[in-house]
Amino acid sequence: MFQPTYPISTARLTLRPVTPDDLDDVYAFQSRPDVVRWMLGTGPRTREQSRASVLAMASEDALREEGDCLTLAAVTGGTVIGTVELVWRSRSERTAELGYVFHPGHGGRGLATEAATALLDWGFTELGLHRVVARCHGRNAASARLMARLGMRQEAHHVESYLFNGEWADQIVFAVLAREWTPRTSPPGGQRR
Ligand SMILES: CC(C)(COP(=O)(O)OP(=O)(O)OC[C@H]1O[C@@H](n2cnc3c(N)ncnc32)[C@H](O)[C@@H]1OP(=O)(O)O)[C@@H](O)C(=O)NCCC(=O)NCCS
Repeated sequence: MFQPTYPISTARLTLRPVTPDDLDDVYAFQSRPDVVRWMLGTGPRTREQSRASVLAMASEDALREEGDCLTLAAVTGGTVIGTVELVWRSRSERTAELGYVFHPGHGGRGLATEAATALLDWGFTELGLHRVVARCHGRNAASARLMARLGMRQEAHHVESYLFNGEWADQIVFAVLAREWTPRTSPPGGQRR
């Protein structure tokens, strides 16, 4: 099992597992149309849907087997302002996929970049990943800029490759390899169990 040593501290954030008590904070951003706009299969969440989401994320505190998702709450001033996640796509190919969702009220300050950087650092240094990939809707410019800011390379722009709300949509794919990744934060690290 692979699990960070919690909490992971960055310059401005604390990263730790989601808990059921985070419902109000998570609902505050999951219920916003501008947050879910480019996310596949997700409309603005009702409070009950957010409750189910929070409970599911609360169990994602470690990577136990391929396919598992590690989800961390990004906390500042006692408020969960977003989540970052790492899905363990392949054990043999040491590959994971990065995801992130942040409250727009805390956007534009580099906080999502800071949280994702810490999670990537953990993935490369503690989990021993070879490659991390991230994907977004072709029109999700903020997400594409974030991937570039993280130092990820754009590897593909798939044209009309998937159905998004019943319409063909482009998908942009970014990736970064362990040998390309330069640790940029000094989180406490993690531990292998
Ligand atoms: C994707 C998402 C997390 C990006 O949020 P964001 O606020 O742009 O990202 P950050 O918190 O890293 O802030 C970066 C912005 O702050 C600016 N900034 C200010 N201070 C900064 C700092 N110290 N470090 C880095 N960036 C800083 C950057 O220039 C950047 O602005 P720009 O994109 O206009 O150039 C956000 O748009 C979101 O949650 N969207 C909805 C969910 C979603 O689509 N998720 C992805 C699904 S694929």
